[in-house]
Amino acid sequence: MTELNAPPSATTPVWEHFDHVESGIRRRIAVADPAVKDYLDRMLARIAAHRGVEHPLLNAYRTTALDPRQESHMYSECYYFFRYLPFYITGMAIKTRDEMILREIILNVADEVGSDPTHSTLFAGFLARIGLDKDHLSHYQPLDVTERLNDGIRRLYTESSIHKALGALYADETMSSIMVSKINDGLRNQGYDEDLRHFWQLHIDLEVGHSNSVFNAIAPYVESAAARAEFEEGAFEFLGLVERYWDGVQQLVGLGQ
Ligand SMILES: [Fe+2]
Repeated sequence: MTELNAPPSATTPVWEHFDHVESGIRRRIAVADPAVKDYLDRMLARIAAHRGVEHPLLNAYRTTALDPRQESHMYSECYYFFRYLPFYITGMAIKTRDEMILREIILNVADEVGSDPTHSTLFAGFLARIGLDKDHLSHYQPLDVTERLNDGIRRLYTESSIHKALGALYADETMSSIMVSKINDGLRNQGYDEDLRHFWQLHIDLEVGHSNSVFNAIAPYVESAAARAEFEEGAFEFLGLVERYWDGVQQLVGLGQ
């Protein structure tokens, strides 16, 4: 499988990686109208190229080791970014009466909480192993941009129209597949072994499947210009929140400026 964060090349557009996935990863359902796939592919490419995804901090982290203070800040902020996201995604279900959308939302959330240990438990285990235990995290005061990101995601998923929410989720899952790959590279560069990196490694392919779930959920709707406008509004509102988050973390950590 092509590395997601390999330099873009004219021969392999980023969506090829989402078209061809390993077994066990959610696939894109074939759409009859090629214009629909073309639109969702182009949206995926716009998301992948956004500065919130190709952020200088994340790109620098792949090849630059952090000192303990920088690492503690980076992952404490991450904890407050990721917290409760499966609950928010589940909140999208009430916005629709389309069972196909409901199915894709459930499949996504089932990956996170459907088996033991749940992914938030795996994440807590990772944090503890780098020295960030429950006690540290509960006393940590995250940045304003981190709180705004987490609450912004909650609002996008639970208080927006389903088309806008799905736009935000398409950006979230596509962004995540790239972000986890960069973070996994950074941890490997830091000298951490596969066992410690398990949570991140596991999500590299899984998040591609989650992006594909959103592709399947929205595909029947994007022939409408109004639905496309809402979908794009959600995607770029989400990416703006993420970009401001990484700018804040970058300032705190002092890397990639
Ligand atoms: Fe995901």
